[in-house]
Amino acid sequence: MYEIRFEIVYSTRLHFVMVLDPRMQFALVTIATIITNTETQEARLPEVKMYSLQKGLWSTPMTNVFVRYDFPKPWQSYSDITICYRIRVERFSEYTIHLSYALSHQNANEILFYNMATELYTYLHDLKQTLNVKGPLEMYPETWNHFCHRLSRLDHKIYWQGQFYGSAQVFPNKEYLFNGTLIIGQEQDSLGGTFASSQILQGDIVQLSIWDRHLSPEEIQDLANCKSEGRGNIFSLDTAEVNKLGPVSISSLKVSDLCKQQPHYLVLPERRTVTASLVQCHLLNASMVVPSSKEENSRIRNLLAPFMDACSSTPWKIWLGITDEMHEGVWIDLNGDKPVEFENFVSPYPYGGRSDNCAALLPDGTWGDAKCSLKKCSACHVQPSKYLYLRGLCFDNEHETRFRVEGYIEGRPLFRGYYDLLVMWNQSLSQWLLTNTVNTTIASMSPSDLNDYPLGQNEWTIKSLICGTHIGAKVNLSLSPCMPDHFMCYSGECIKHQYRCNLRFECEDGSDEDDCDVVHLESGYRSHLPPPGLGNLPLQLALNFTLARFVAIDIIKMSISVDFQVSISWEDNRLSFSHLESTKNKAILTRGDVSKIWIPRYRLLSVEGGLVQLLEQEVLVNSANNPRLPDFNAVKMDLMYPGAENQLILIEEYTANFACSLQFYAFPFDVQVCSISLRLPSSYEDFVAISDEKSQVSFTGPQELALFMVGEVRKGPDWGDGHAHIEFVLKCHGSSVVLSFFLPCLMLLLVSWGSLFINWDAFALRVMLSFGTLLLFYLLRLTLISSTPVTMAVKFLDVWVLITVLILFVNVLVHIFLQDNDVDDYYNRTKPLLMRPAGGAVMIARDSSKSQMKPLHLYRMIILPVAVVTFNIIFWAMLFILR
Ligand SMILES: *[C@@H]1O[C@H](CO)[C@@H](O)[C@H](O)[C@H]1NC(C)=O
Ligand SMILES: *[C@@H]1O[C@H](CO)[C@@H](O)[C@H](O)[C@H]1NC(C)=O
Ligand SMILES: *[C@@H]1O[C@H](CO)[C@@H](O)[C@H](O)[C@H]1NC(C)=O
Ligand SMILES: *[C@@H]1O[C@H](CO)[C@@H](O)[C@H](O)[C@H]1NC(C)=O
Repeated sequence: MYEIRFEIVYSTRLHFVMVLDPRMQFALVTIATIITNTETQEARLPEVKMYSLQKGLWSTPMTNVFVRYDFPKPWQSYSDITICYRIRVERFSEYTIHLSYALSHQNANEILFYNMATELYTYLHDLKQTLNVKGPLEMYPETWNHFCHRLSRLDHKIYWQGQFYGSAQVFPNKEYLFNGTLIIGQEQDSLGGTFASSQILQGDIVQLSIWDRHLSPEEIQDLANCKSEGRGNIFSLDTAEVNKLGPVSISSLKVSDLCKQQPHYLVLPERRTVTASLVQCHLLNASMVVPSSKEENSRIRNLLAPFMDACSSTPWKIWLGITDEMHEGVWIDLNGDKPVEFENFVSPYPYGGRSDNCAALLPDGTWGDAKCSLKKCSACHVQPSKYLYLRGLCFDNEHETRFRVEGYIEGRPLFRGYYDLLVMWNQSLSQWLLTNTVNTTIASMSPSDLNDYPLGQNEWTIKSLICGTHIGAKVNLSLSPCMPDHFMCYSGECIKHQYRCNLRFECEDGSDEDDCDVVHLESGYRSHLPPPGLGNLPLQLALNFTLARFVAIDIIKMSISVDFQVSISWEDNRLSFSHLESTKNKAILTRGDVSKIWIPRYRLLSVEGGLVQLLEQEVLVNSANNPRLPDFNAVKMDLMYPGAENQLILIEEYTANFACSLQFYAFPFDVQVCSISLRLPSSYEDFVAISDEKSQVSFTGPQELALFMVGEVRKGPDWGDGHAHIEFVLKCHGSSVVLSFFLPCLMLLLVSWGSLFINWDAFALRVMLSFGTLLLFYLLRLTLISSTPVTMAVKFLDVWVLITVLILFVNVLVHIFLQDNDVDDYYNRTKPLLMRPAGGAVMIARDSSKSQMKPLHLYRMIILPVAVVTFNIIFWAMLFILR
């Protein structure tokens, strides 16, 4: 099946194409195309000369490969010039030199442009310029980069790929002289000489031109987009008579070819299922090939040619990245789930049916469908801007870790470093070798499965001295497209950091849940030494004391039993942490981690009888501040959180009994202040202290207790240094005692007082009543004693009891003694005082009531009430003042 095309160009604007299609029985198809104006223009552009220097896989950098042009004398000078060129590097060198122009031995850097990694450097008039650029200069190997430098006496403007990229000031204010030597491919440290092998260009250069004027941004854009040939009037590489030195090859090519972007395909010449092929392309940061036009299809067909036998014994050779599994006959792109626009099935394909859901390229370039589980070769579509990182060695900058996959060695893909490293297959050893371009093997790796690429993490054996390891040592190296903000699974898959150590498998091989230790120690860490504080100050511990609840308050034994939590936070700048991002800001350290680090110790003072019980202890990090991206050489790609910015917190929960000297002067209205003390070991003196301003105390339990009400919980007076003192205020509930003691007492007093008003004849009743009050009072007193602390100190309550007893006692005495007098009185009263001779006895009662009853009256109506009321006023007043 062939297609025969005749093209007849009638004029530059009209263009006939005749296609003889065998499938249409040699019918003649005529297509007229009107070629657009720009295409004609581009087609008419003269060819340009491409100079290639130091290219090739095994080329060793040499100091004698360059292109030289000596400007004719007498000299010419210009104040405004533009220098443009297009370069394509095959490999970077330490200094990737764009061009070097010298005036004399002293002025060897009159004009010098070069880049190191992703940074552009320029020298003008022998001075290094401070460039103000728009970002890193991402030049990819084997892609064209167009540069224009617009120079004036004061200012330097740089255009990259047709766009403004950066600028610099020019100093000193001078004209540009053109009577010196221009060197391409090397950097001259003297006029036309003194070269170094690390300062070269390994690649191609075209269209180097110098104009005696400023090109406009539009002209620069047209140049960059291959719309003009761009020959300068001071110099053009296409027309100038230059000298080649060393193996410099010159070829001609069309200007339009420089802007053509051809997709880059890579055949994976091992047999895999469709799914495995898709994964493999992803690990190469590429997509599975899906041809989108006849042209692309035939390019892939041509690439396949050398692997025809290796790939399959059947005509189905390489898998394409399409499937019709979802809807029969509707082919979907496996890379993006979009329906494909171009299909190349030729009858009898596709067979269709349930089992044949994948498509493969047949030797003639047409497609055929087959079962997805069959193993065949595949091909990936690699973008030039995508690269892999080789981690585990000791490169100086990130740019050197970059690798691309291009070409084949011994029938398998070759991984080419951006600089001078290669990872290639060695068939006879069945090993992947890491070599440099002078063919020295640096390390080797035997894959567990011969079909595997050296992607992901692998253990390599060192073969020649590198990075301070000795020969024969094993090192883990990784090759993957994972950027630093991702974690690499051992397989080479990239996952987000938040999925690391989150107790779920996200990597196919489960490696995201390996190695989940949070704490990383600096070398030389000693867990018995406290971390240094800020400056020369001792380490400040922030204490957070939380009184959870009062379990019991025993006022007889004068002890309180409390549950509390002590949390101490501090920073240890000798540590770093990892995996904090997945733990929702609360990473609890494992026992193993805790045992490795310094943890503050302290002692609880005034614990009664050693009754302290540690209920729970944990150490955690509850922030995830300022993560540091992993080093570009680190195989273990975990974010590191610095210990200085992420606090460690020790949380301990206790239940303990504390002795507390309760005060009972004002019982039952007294206010108790008890305290819990905490002391750091004396060995911490001058090194560790408890901070005052960062510490806080709080109470979270219920305020109302059985006998007390919890008042303030506060820091004690001598807080600081090695000592913390937590005070809390307990207010006694007086009301229950008032109800159960004071009120009954008052009632007894009333009864006792009332007894003074009983008919004076009922002696027995009066005495019994008043005596009964005394007895009852004693009973009340007894019940009270059992619930009050025994202290030798005199309490106000004791005064109350004493006075009450005294009053009741006096009342009893009053009854007894006043009664005796009254009995006399009574007899006296019943005796006639005088006899009258008339026989009638006249009984004149003596004014005994006046003499005898008057003190009683005084006592019961005035003295007693006044005494009781006065005493009470004084008593309660004192009590409330004392509180
Ligand atoms: C290539 O890698 C980058 C960064 O990891 C990622 O964003 C991109 O999706 C990858 N491309 C392919 C085709 O896998
Ligand atoms: C590299 O060295 C090996 C053995 O030392 C040799 O077989 C091989 O041909 C060399 N390759 C090149 C390109 O020089
Ligand atoms: C390489 O990594 C594996 C898995 O993490 C580990 O078991 C092994 O010890 C490492 N080898 C070296 C030499 O570090
Ligand atoms: C102190 O601890 C309590 C209870 O654990 C907590 O609610 C509070 O946020 C902590 N305060 C500080 C400053 O850590």
